[in-house]
Amino acid sequence: MAGYDRNFTDELRTRLSIVDVVGRRVPLVKKGQNYWGCCPFHNEKTPSFSVNEEKGFYHCFGCGEHGDIISFTMKSNNMDFKEAIKELANQAGLKIPEYKPKSSEQVAREETYFQIVEDASKIYQQKLFEPEGKVALDYIHRRGFSDDMIKKYRLGYAPKNNLIANKFVNVKQDKLLSTGLCRRGEYGMYDFFRDKLMFPIFNMHGQVVAFSGRSLDGSEPKYINTSDTELFHKRKTIFGLNFARDAIHRANRSIIVEGQIDAIQMQSNGFPETVAPLGTALTEDHIAILCKSNRNIIFCFDGDSAGQKAAVRACDIVMPFLRDNSDVKFAFVTGGKDPDEILKNSGTDAMRKIIDESTPLVDFLWEITNETFLVSTPGGRTQAEKFLKQKTDKITDVALRAEYEQEYNSRKFNSWHKWKKSDKKNINIELPEIDSITQKTLIFITDKFPEVAERYAEFLASLNINFDGTAPEMNLDAKAAEKYIVSLKLQKYLEKLNAEKKDVMARLLAGEDLQEKINFINSEIARATENLETLISI
Ligand code: UTP
Ligand code: MN
Repeated sequence: MAGYDRNFTDELRTRLSIVDVVGRRVPLVKKGQNYWGCCPFHNEKTPSFSVNEEKGFYHCFGCGEHGDIISFTMKSNNMDFKEAIKELANQAGLKIPEYKPKSSEQVAREETYFQIVEDASKIYQQKLFEPEGKVALDYIHRRGFSDDMIKKYRLGYAPKNNLIANKFVNVKQDKLLSTGLCRRGEYGMYDFFRDKLMFPIFNMHGQVVAFSGRSLDGSEPKYINTSDTELFHKRKTIFGLNFARDAIHRANRSIIVEGQIDAIQMQSNGFPETVAPLGTALTEDHIAILCKSNRNIIFCFDGDSAGQKAAVRACDIVMPFLRDNSDVKFAFVTGGKDPDEILKNSGTDAMRKIIDESTPLVDFLWEITNETFLVSTPGGRTQAEKFLKQKTDKITDVALRAEYEQEYNSRKFNSWHKWKKSDKKNINIELPEIDSITQKTLIFITDKFPEVAERYAEFLASLNINFDGTAPEMNLDAKAAEKYIVSLKLQKYLEKLNAEKKDVMARLLAGEDLQEKINFINSEIARATENLETLISI
C-alpha cells in the first residue's frame, strides 16, 4: 500500500459501504444475502455481478472480476491507487492523513513507552497487596471483585507519594512525560495518579497503554484518565474490547455500558460481549470499531433523564452505521443505578431481563419523539416531524432510510392523524378542499382497508381530513379503494400544478424569464392528466 497508512484504508473500508460505492455506478438489487447488478466490467444483460456488504467485496460470476471499494473505484474510474483513495476519502468526508513511515526513533520511542507503562502497571498491581494499598483492596472487594477478576483486569493501587516519578528517576524526563504518568511541576516531576484505584486500559493487542484511576476518598472528579498520548487516543479506545472481542463474534452482538466497573462486572457475570467507552463520551470511532465485528449493538443506559439524553446522542452517532441487517437496541436500567448495581443486588437474570427487553432503535426514536413534542397540536407535530426527519436523514443506506421513512409515515398517520378522532379540538378543522362525499369515502377506506391507507399515509395526512365520523357501507374493494386514493392524489397534484401555472404565467407576463419552468409544468400536467385518464379507464 505504497504511500498510505494501512489504518486509513481500513478506515475507508469501515466508513464506506461497498453497496453505496458500487451503487453509485451500478443499479443493485438485493437478493438473499447479496446485492446484484449487471457487471460494469464486461457486457451483460442478466446480472451476474454480486456485492457482499458484510465482507465488503464484489465478485462477478461472469468475468471473474473481484475486489473491494478501492479496486472498484480504481477500475471503474480508471484511476490509480492514490486517486482512488482521494475519491473515496471525499465520499467518506475524511481528510487523507499525511503518510509518514515510522522512523527507527519512533519505533524505539514506542517500545520505551510500552515498557514504562507495563512496568508501572506491575508496580501498581503489587502496591494493591501491600499495606499501603489496603484501603483500595478492601474497597474493590466490597464492590464484588474476586481475586481472579483483580488479576485478569490487572487492577492496582497508585499510592499517595510520587511512586512512578521516583522509580523511573533514571529514565529521560521526556520519555516519562510522554506516557502521561508523570507531569513536570515547579519542584520537579510528580505523579499524575495519586491515591487512586488503578484500572489499566489495554489496546487491541492487550498491551497497557493508559490508566483510569478512581478516587477512594470521595474526592472529585471520581475518575481521572491518562490524557491522550501518542499511543492512547481516548476517542478511539474502547474499554474491555481486548477481552470482549471473541465474545462479540460468538454472541454476534456487543453491549455498551457507561462505566468501566460496569463493563468488568458484566463481562464477569454472563455478558462477556460488554464494553464501555472511556469517560462518558461515546464517539463515532467507537461505533466504527465495533461495527467491524458486527452491527448488532445494545446500548445500556441509566433509566434517568441523563441516560435518555445519552441514548439520543448514541442514536445520532449510530444512524450512519445502520444497515438492513443491523440490530440496534436501547436498554434502560431501572431499579438500580447501573448494571454493576443490578448484578450485585439482583443478579444476572435480572440483568438479562433488562437486556432482553431492550427497545429497538426504530421504536426508541418514535417513543422519544412522542414524549418530547406535543404531538396533539399541529405545531408540536411539525417539530416532531422535523426531529424524526433529521434523524432518519442520517441513515446512509438509501433503501433502509426509505424503509424508516415509510414506517414513521404510517405511524404518524395511525397515531397522530387517524386516531385524533377522540381529540375534540380537531372537530373545527376547516376542510375547504375536501367535499363531504370524498371525506366519507376516505373514512370508509381507512377503516376498512387500513393497509391501503397506510401506503398513502403521508398523502392522506396532508389532506387535513377529520376522521371523526362514520361512513356508510360502500361498494368498494381494496383495489378500487387504492384506485380512488391514487386518482385523488393525481387530482390534487393537478390542482397544485394549475395554481402554480397561474402564478408563473402572471410572472411571465411581468417579464420574468420562466419559459423553462412553464414547459416543465405543462409537461407535468400532461403526464398527470394522462395517468389519471388511464387510471379511470381501467
Ligand atoms: P458514573 O458516574 O456513572 O460512575 O460514570 P460509575 O461507573 O458508576 O462509577 P462507580 O460505580 O461509582 O465507580 C460513568 C463513567 O464515566 C466516566 C468513567 O469512565 C465512569 O466509569 N467518568 C465518570 C469519568 O471519566 N470521570 C468522572 O469524574 C466520572
Ligand atoms: Mn457504578
